Parts: sequence; structure tokens; C-alpha cells
Amino acid sequence: MARPLNSIYIHIPFCQSKCHYCNFTSFTGKKSCIEDYFKALNIDTSCYLKNTLGKKFKTLYIGGGTPSLVESFLYENLLSGINLSDNAEVTIEANPGTVSAQYLKTLRKIGFNRISLGVQCFDNGTLKLLNRLHSAQEAIEAVDYAKKSGFDNISIDLIYGLPGQKLFDWEKTLYQAIDLDVNHISAYGLKIEENTEFFNNLPDELPDEDLNAQMYLRGVEILEQNGFEHYEISNFAKPGFSSAHNLAYWNNDEYLGFGVAAHGYVNGERYCNKTVLESYMENPLEKKTQRKLTADEVLEEAIFLGLRLRNGIDPDEMEKKYSVNLFDRYKHIIEKYKNLGLMDFRGSRLQLTIQGVLLSNDIFADFL
Ligand SMILES: C[S@@+](CC[C@H](N)C(=O)[O-])C[C@H]1O[C@@H](n2cnc3c(N)ncnc32)[C@H](O)[C@@H]1O
Ligand code: SF4
Repeated sequence: MARPLNSIYIHIPFCQSKCHYCNFTSFTGKKSCIEDYFKALNIDTSCYLKNTLGKKFKTLYIGGGTPSLVESFLYENLLSGINLSDNAEVTIEANPGTVSAQYLKTLRKIGFNRISLGVQCFDNGTLKLLNRLHSAQEAIEAVDYAKKSGFDNISIDLIYGLPGQKLFDWEKTLYQAIDLDVNHISAYGLKIEENTEFFNNLPDELPDEDLNAQMYLRGVEILEQNGFEHYEISNFAKPGFSSAHNLAYWNNDEYLGFGVAAHGYVNGERYCNKTVLESYMENPLEKKTQRKLTADEVLEEAIFLGLRLRNGIDPDEMEKKYSVNLFDRYKHIIEKYKNLGLMDFRGSRLQLTIQGVLLSNDIFADFL
């Protein structure tokens, strides 16, 4: 069955400096390539969008890297070639160390209506250790500028499990975040990724697994007590402010991905664009990988993406969409995790329990 296609992701791979935990595709010292990169992006987007004439997209997400390093006129150009529905969610990621009030005002004016700021934490020593560009005060100011510029849909990213962080520090971070009065918070556990400074030089005093789990559970508790719905493993939103773009991923809908290293999912095919900046700019239309998913892969993805949602999956809906009865195929796995208290039914929906969320990667692996 054809999957809905309502979303576009565009990757902006430029950063001023590299954070010590980050292995996203992003390049430093290449700001001079930005205009040429946008020429390549315009070729990429116009080629694929000409096949979707008349279609209005419901979400556009400009992620990075640091999209806020790019001058607004380039976005104005880019957005003019994309047909968005009137109430589309149009998000841009921004690093608080790179935004001025004027810049955010212009972004708002040219059509962005949601901003996602990488705040991470409010401790200046830790921000320095992470090699972030900004201080805690600058992050707080960035949220304020965003509000004053007319953004009423503001998200911030936080990281827990940071070097030297205690449970009390994380609680303090959460209360400071709540005080900012934003509508959406993403809270990620620090992951030591390959090809990062932290991977090569493991920082001291990393919280152990138990403390990480405590921080996660405490985060859920504090955010829920303060009006945030825990709607996905790492995501919390005030009512009505879940990220429509990310929900499209978790609902296993299709999406177009533009830019270096961007992924897309169209006509049952997953693709990845070229990952080397210069090769992408030379030929933005050539893919690095492109593969039609098998029916089993589509189902497996739908299960593990759907189980990331706290609301879980509806086996009847899954049967309609994928013509597979989950109880027939995965009976022993579902029963095993139900008996362990890691999975449960709420009404007709199958969900991970909060203890299940802590072990989600192992559970997902069992479905593959
Ligand atoms: C592309 S970045 C966000 C925007 C912008 N580049 C910035 O850093 O301000 C997406 C988010 O992923 C999170 N992140 C990236 N690498 C991570 C890691 N290794 N562990 C935990 N969170 C990570 C950070 O919270 C980061 O803000
Ligand atoms: S976390 Fe954001 S700012 Fe830092 S290197 Fe990664 S993409 Fe760039």
C-alpha cells in the first residue's frame, strides 16, 4: 500500500566548530561553500519536486549541522520553490551561539514557524567541555529572541548523562528548561559516537547505566508534572505541539530528503544522498545508496518506529496497512515482553511500558 508523502527534510552541513559528542554530517571551515551548496540544493529540490506538481507538503524541516549559519535570503530562495500547505509546520534548527534577534525575525517573516534550539544544558563549564559555541545565558537569550520574533512553536534540545552530571544537576537543567516556557523539549541521553572527540578521548566521570536510567525516568516525571506529554522516547510536548515532521518518520510515512547525507523514503525505496560535500555539490542528483524495501522490512520498520511512540501501535491498523497479523507473526515476542512487564496493551494499542523504553533497543532488535 502506498505510504503518505507529506514531508521534506533538508540538510545543512555547516558548523562553526564541532561539538565533542557529535557525529552528524557537518563540516567546519567550509562557510565559503554555502552559496554553491544552495545552488546544488536548488537543483536537487527542483528536480524531485517537479514530479510532485500540485502537491502541498505539510512539513518542512531544515536540520543540520547548523542551519542558522546560513543567510536568510538563501532560505527565502529555497522556500520559494517548495509548495507548502497553508498550515504547514516549517522548522529550522538553530544553534544559540549563531542567532541574533534580527536574524530570527527574518526567518519568521520568510515562513519558518517552528524553531529547534540546541541548548543541551545550562552549565557553562559543561557547555565548554562539550565544545558548544554558546553560554547558558546566550541559550536563554536565544529562546527569548525567538519568542520576540513571533515564534510560538519553540523546541529545545537537552542532553543528560553528561560528564560529571549528577541527578540533581539534571533536575536543575529540567527546571531551568521548564522556566523558559517552550512548547517542546527533546531530551537525549549522551551517546559516545564513533568519530567524535569524546570517542577518541573518553571524558572522565561519565554517569553509569543506572544513573542514566534514573535521569531518564526523572526527566519523564518532571516534564509530565509540568504539562509536557511524553509522546516519543526522547520527546515531550505541550498539548498540540508534538513535532508533526518527526511524527511522520515514526508513523513510517514517506518523505523527501535533500542535501548532503540526507536520507529519503519514496515509493517504498529508502535512499541516502552522497555524503562527501564536494561530490554532492558536483552531482546532487546521484544517490549514494538507493534500495527498495522488502515487505518484511517495511513491517519491521513500522513496528520499531511505532513502538518509539508512547502511544505505540495498533495491531488492527497495522494489519490493514501491511496485511500482517502481528499476533500471528510475533506472538512469542509480544508475550515474552508482556510477561516481563516491558510491553502492554492500552485499549487496542500495543506499547512499551516505561521500563520497556529503557530496554527499547533490545526489544526492537527482537522484532528484526
Ligand atoms: C543537529 S543537532 C541540533 C542543532 C544544532 N546543530 C545545535 O547543535 O545546536 C541535533 C541534536 O542532537 C543531539 N545530539 C547530537 N549528538 C548527540 C549525542 N552523541 N548524544 C546525545 N545527543 C546528541 C543534540 O541535543 C543536538 O542538539
Ligand atoms: S551538535 Fe550541532 S552544532 Fe554541534 S557539531 Fe553537531 S550539528 Fe554542529
